[in-house]
Amino acid sequence: MDRRDFLTTSALSAIGATAALGTTEAAGAATAERTELSHTSAGTPIGKASSVPVGGSATFTVAGKPGIVLQPKAGQFVAFNSTCTHEGCPVGFVRSTKLLVCPCHHSEFNEVTGAVVRGPAQRALAKFTVTVVKGELYVK
Ligand code: FES
Repeated sequence: MDRRDFLTTSALSAIGATAALGTTEAAGAATAERTELSHTSAGTPIGKASSVPVGGSATFTVAGKPGIVLQPKAGQFVAFNSTCTHEGCPVGFVRSTKLLVCPCHHSEFNEVTGAVVRGPAQRALAKFTVTVVKGELYVK
């Protein structure tokens, strides 16, 4: 796996001061500007849908927990807690293989379901419910 593969995750742009967003490299260099979260019935706002490229990903933080949102097909958004279920390293999306990959022990997860494709992880990534309201993404 090439380091550049891990750099395909883009950053969501913040919605005013309501979301805590950041960018990561799968190697774990997470950065996040933490601001007060606001909650709606759709969940917690994480950014603009247009900031997530088709076939790509973006990272966010909700309540101090790292997340990753993907758009596998146009208009289809999925989001996961990006903490690997093996020993807790942050997973990243590898566009060339369409897998979420952990840099620590190389577990791989399905980009749509979060299911383990290759261990040592035994459990799927925790999935968020994603809702799009007026072009904004919400998770809960
Ligand atoms: S922490 Fe992810 S595979 Fe070990």
